[in-house]
Amino acid sequence: MIYFDYNATTPLDPMVREAMLPFWGEIWGNPSSVHHVGRKARALLDDARDRTAIFLGAKPSEVVFTSGGTEANNLAILGTARLLKNKGKHLITSAVEHHAVLHCFDYLEKMEGYSVSRLPVNSEGRISLDDFRKAIRPDTILVSLMAANNEIGTIQPVSEVGQLCRERGIIFHTDAVQWFGKEPFIKVSQFNADLVSVCAHKFHGPKGAGLLYIRSPLHPDPILFGGGHENERRAGTENLAGIFGLVSALEKNVKNPVFNRFYLQPLIAQLKSCVLAIKGCELVSPADGSLANTVSFTVTGSDGIALMAGLDMEGICASSGSACSAGSLEPSHVILALGKGDVANSLVRFSLGRDSSNEEVDFVCDLLPKIIFRAQKNQ
Ligand SMILES: Cc1ncc(COP(=O)(O)O)c(C=O)c1O
Repeated sequence: MIYFDYNATTPLDPMVREAMLPFWGEIWGNPSSVHHVGRKARALLDDARDRTAIFLGAKPSEVVFTSGGTEANNLAILGTARLLKNKGKHLITSAVEHHAVLHCFDYLEKMEGYSVSRLPVNSEGRISLDDFRKAIRPDTILVSLMAANNEIGTIQPVSEVGQLCRERGIIFHTDAVQWFGKEPFIKVSQFNADLVSVCAHKFHGPKGAGLLYIRSPLHPDPILFGGGHENERRAGTENLAGIFGLVSALEKNVKNPVFNRFYLQPLIAQLKSCVLAIKGCELVSPADGSLANTVSFTVTGSDGIALMAGLDMEGICASSGSACSAGSLEPSHVILALGKGDVANSLVRFSLGRDSSNEEVDFVCDLLPKIIFRAQKNQ
């Protein structure tokens, strides 16, 4: 088995697993209970929040633990748009965001009367600051731009956009789910963002755990109602195992990115030259300003299902970047935004990680021409 799908998820780090184990055993109290069993859980939760805050360079009150990246994005976007609706109803995002962002904006537009500008991208998947400046209106209240794209790896000019927002009093959110663990992190203020989404399972933490950094004094409207958890911002008994997994994975795998650029670069370079030599293949991941672990390409005369099946038959796990529904593939909205409608359902994404080896890349490069030829012939 060759796993080249680290942007989808990563295996749990054994050290992270170790840190989570007590919460499936002896520590099972509810942090909201007033008795000593609950108080012990509460003390540990406070501890995890303090460690997370120190790690981020933030205040403990600026950390909201969530069930992952999707929920963090939903809280950031729905919660802020609703909080500020009396100030204005114009929102800006990009055409290449993850669906956990795009579908929030679609909903606000369709159901709640907001107006949404979706910035176009260039052939590398990057927005232009000029387009962004032109999109700003007096009633713009919120901007959301991803730090790095999950399908093709493009890194966006997030801190520049954040700076422009701050100068204009506009709230800025970045979905940094694919960025953490892959790019050098110093502290959360480097994004110039008011809201930052993070998800543990992209850097060898557990699934179902993430956080939203909320710069004080912002207090988005909650999207989950119930108890007063997370300082009235996210109701629901806290997932202590997940939270400890998240903070352990942050401390271990993020400051020193677990996706090591120097290790991954030659592997990705070899995959890229192999792809370039195959008839009908075109690279879509940018040469510069891109995640070091990701190489994506399109294949003329084929489709994602045939390509994924062909790779899987040889034991290779990759991704087509687009959602599969009822046995057919939706075209990738990212490839459509690049202006490549004709190949939007024939994307292949290889995303490598810390256990990817030279031997695996050699093996894939040997087989890839044959797999692609077969997938093309079956059309
Ligand atoms: C850019 C981006 N945002 C958000 C998400 C959703 O995160 P989660 O799986 O934690 O819900 C993903 C997951 O693939 C992602 O790649």
